[in-house]
Amino acid sequence: MTAKVIDGKAFAATVREKVAGHVARLKEEHGITPGLAVVLVGEDPASQVYVRSKGKQTIEAGMNSYEYKLPAETTEDELLAVVEKLNNDPQVHGILVQLPLPNHMNSDLVINAIDPAKDVDGFHISNVGLLGTGQKSMVPCTPLGCLMMLRDHHGSLSGLNAVVVGRSNIVGKPMAQLLLGDSCTVTIAHSRTKNIQDIVRSADIVVAAVGRPEMVTGDWIKPGATVIDVGINRIDAGEGKTKLVGDCEYSSCAEVAGAITPVPGGVGPMTIACLLANTVTACCRANG
Ligand code: GUN
Repeated sequence: MTAKVIDGKAFAATVREKVAGHVARLKEEHGITPGLAVVLVGEDPASQVYVRSKGKQTIEAGMNSYEYKLPAETTEDELLAVVEKLNNDPQVHGILVQLPLPNHMNSDLVINAIDPAKDVDGFHISNVGLLGTGQKSMVPCTPLGCLMMLRDHHGSLSGLNAVVVGRSNIVGKPMAQLLLGDSCTVTIAHSRTKNIQDIVRSADIVVAAVGRPEMVTGDWIKPGATVIDVGINRIDAGEGKTKLVGDCEYSSCAEVAGAITPVPGGVGPMTIACLLANTVTACCRANG
């Protein structure tokens, strides 16, 4: 079998179009323009690329983008003051503090200082608790993007066996909660899991989010299963070149799977599209 390729790039474009339509209606009918504030501390090159991309796509969707670039030496108190200002600014509906923060800051403290209603990352402890108890919350963008692609491919996910490989707070754990919310039977596998291949091979849905290049190979995949690859790893491609690969070995997994997301062009583009969607959601909730 050769897997159907789930085109995250095309899917993300349709999500962005819907968001832009929603934004236009909010402006026309209510005179409201959703606003997203992104805070970057320091000069991490990957974070700079993400933040630039978020700002650009926010503006393209017709929303207001507010960027705060703070030096690496910024104190935690100074960052908390910026967050507080954004919490109190009615023009700002979504706040994202780019992670990782410099080592001298307590990320949990900073994230939990964001107004939960403006926490478009869904990382605030209140949103984590609401998601875990099946209540209305802000949902982390990467798992939300994965869920949207899975629903689109499968229709109902009810009763399917899902294995999430990776237990991070940003992807693995919220992904498992979302799949459980859609009535999957969910297993979280991780670096200490025994017989991990056998567990992954029992899955109708595999979500790989471990950050280990090409760890999941085709012999781990049940024929016909759906493989969602969250990994983005830059590896040596010889001759002084590098290439981007996922947490799944694409060629061998695509031979066995029923459907698979590529890297790049799979989950990645969906993350920012969901961030824009979350900002509109936060704006609509703030305005009743
Ligand atoms: N760093 C890498 N991914 C993310 C994300 O989704 N949100 C934030 N705030 N920081 C990140």
